[in-house]
Amino acid sequence: MKERLKKLYSEVFGGGKDPRCFFAPGRVNLIGEHTDYNGGHVFPCALSMGIYCAAAPREDGLIRLWSAAFPDEGVSECRLEELLCCKGAEDMKALAIGSRAKRSGWTVYPLGSLKSLADAGYSLPGGLDMVFDADLPTGSGLSSSAAMEVLALTAASALWGIELEGPEKALIAQAAENRYAGVPCGIMDQFASAMGKKDHAIFLDTQTLEYELVPLDLANSKIVIVNSMVKHSLASSAYAERRRECAEALEDIQKEVNAASLGALDEESFERAAQLINDPVCRKRARHAVYENRRAVKAAELLRNGNIKGFGALMNASHASLRDDFEVSCPELDLLAETAQTLPGVLGARMTGGGFGGCTVNIVELSALDAFREAISSKYIEAFGKECLIYTADPSDGAGEL
Ligand code: GLA
Repeated sequence: MKERLKKLYSEVFGGGKDPRCFFAPGRVNLIGEHTDYNGGHVFPCALSMGIYCAAAPREDGLIRLWSAAFPDEGVSECRLEELLCCKGAEDMKALAIGSRAKRSGWTVYPLGSLKSLADAGYSLPGGLDMVFDADLPTGSGLSSSAAMEVLALTAASALWGIELEGPEKALIAQAAENRYAGVPCGIMDQFASAMGKKDHAIFLDTQTLEYELVPLDLANSKIVIVNSMVKHSLASSAYAERRRECAEALEDIQKEVNAASLGALDEESFERAAQLINDPVCRKRARHAVYENRRAVKAAELLRNGNIKGFGALMNASHASLRDDFEVSCPELDLLAETAQTLPGVLGARMTGGGFGGCTVNIVELSALDAFREAISSKYIEAFGKECLIYTADPSDGAGEL
């Protein structure tokens, strides 16, 4: 990959400089969905698929970006002064798309991260030339935007000699997504991309940012990701709506109960407090957030004890809750998860990520893998007339230099 990146770099920007190469992974969340903005726990791992770049610093204040995913867009240029003037997502979009209507706006993510680095008090000493390439499908719920944000920070901080610890990097990347991409996401995706460890999952308390790297010892099983290939256009507006509904439920509860977040409640205290939530829809959303957080805590404990069967059962319960109470699934994800749950050798299956499309995550026994692929592919084509993509996941290290 390094050779390819360096070649791309010299094709795009010419020879003369020896760029350094960096990688940031995508993530899959095993359990703990829509809990990260509710002060709960998440349990993701970084993937071996991700985004790569070759980058070199510039003395002047020019930032030049090019992506192999959008070769027709050519090189995007932006001056540091312009970037530092961006006040929010609207400005950033204008900067990324400019007057050329055909641009996709992908540069919002790296530019947003650099601006966010400046917002955090770091001075940006000059410009950068960067080329990007990826083996992570975009818009598939495996956090390509978080990977891009974390990658830009990893490269820029290394090239500029800025020391950024992993959790701080994740927070700056999350701020980039919130402020400059306009998505009010939690910390999970950026944290997983920055902090992943090979063969481990990250058990993260999003209230305190305390975390534990739990060895992902799945005995004779593998994590399998199935990509529904559905990209739902409502995903970000529905995400913001779910966030609001959870916040409203918490406010109602806080009128009588002292709880910092929904994640601070266990099942019993939630059931006692549930009638304080006026809106029945908000009540369902909160029920998911509370029970899902408890499932994440129990799942981590089961994994530490080698109880993969118990872990899988919690994944199945998580899917049902995301489908029925949180209502962020879709027919394609339901079919994929529910079919998988009936197959021999499948210990657990659920949608993963924000929802409304994207992927399912499954724990499948190695001996059942071929039958799993066949059954899932054929059921999916039969029901929806299109193909899904199936990958086995290898939990990997977080972002770094190649
Ligand atoms: C998206 C967000 C995360 C998290 C998940 C749902 O991936 O970026 O912060 O909220 O949805 O668990």
